[in-house]
Amino acid sequence: MLCRHPAPRQRWGEAELTLDVLNSLLENRHSCRAFLPDPVPQDHIEQIVTSAARVPSWCNAQPWQVHITSGAETDRFRQALRHEAETGTPAPDLPFPSGYSGVYQDRRRACGWALYKAVGVEKGDRAASARQMMENYALFGAPHCAIVTSPAELGPYGAMDCGGFVTAFTLAAQALGVASIPQAAVAAYAPFLRRYFQVPEDRLILCAISFGYPDQAHPANGFRTDRAGLDEIVRWHG
Ligand SMILES: Cc1cc2nc3c(=O)[nH]c(=O)nc-3n(C[C@H](O)[C@H](O)[C@H](O)COP(=O)(O)O)c2cc1C
Repeated sequence: MLCRHPAPRQRWGEAELTLDVLNSLLENRHSCRAFLPDPVPQDHIEQIVTSAARVPSWCNAQPWQVHITSGAETDRFRQALRHEAETGTPAPDLPFPSGYSGVYQDRRRACGWALYKAVGVEKGDRAASARQMMENYALFGAPHCAIVTSPAELGPYGAMDCGGFVTAFTLAAQALGVASIPQAAVAAYAPFLRRYFQVPEDRLILCAISFGYPDQAHPANGFRTDRAGLDEIVRWHG
């Protein structure tokens, strides 16, 4: 039981929205790490972006912009990105976390091991884990990639607003049967991305979202992450 009271049913035109619908999207979405090559129809991509843009943002600034690749352009980008990851030096616009300690380290390890177990990477096999890491730069075989940027002058709040956009993007995609994965690993190569997509200097490159239809049979998609309970999330006052 998620809720002590029956969920209110709201009518939005013809559609009936319940918490069950939202929970179904939230529970079924997962980060997809193996995609089929089939393209997502352009009108579905447009619907995903339109829905994602309904999230709140401070002052309704709507700081998000996305560069989206399709078809041969995704393959061209994939090749160039892979080359950059093999030869370049990481330089993200947003500093990567300085460390993960305590419960954050535990959770990070748990999801890392779950992935390695699923794809058959043994503990300590650095070559195999590096190979799996490099899948990030093949965009996990996705037919599309979205690069998310925010105005530099909006700072962390712009990035916060874009986090909501990224989440809503993944949920809207899920609603259309489209799998996705946000990727900070791609944003590590921000100077390359800036040149490649001609992103102006006054915008920060935040992350990528690779998306497409999932390869359900692939072992990389064969595990799910868990979540902490309310007791670890909320400190009640009153
Ligand atoms: C901002 C952000 C960046 C992420 N970057 C990566 C990444 O570079 N590579 C990757 O494999 N997963 C990445 N992920 C996916 C997370 O590992 C994943 O969301 C988390 O383990 C929870 O699993 P789930 O998405 O399947 O529920 C990222 C997720 C977010 C929200």
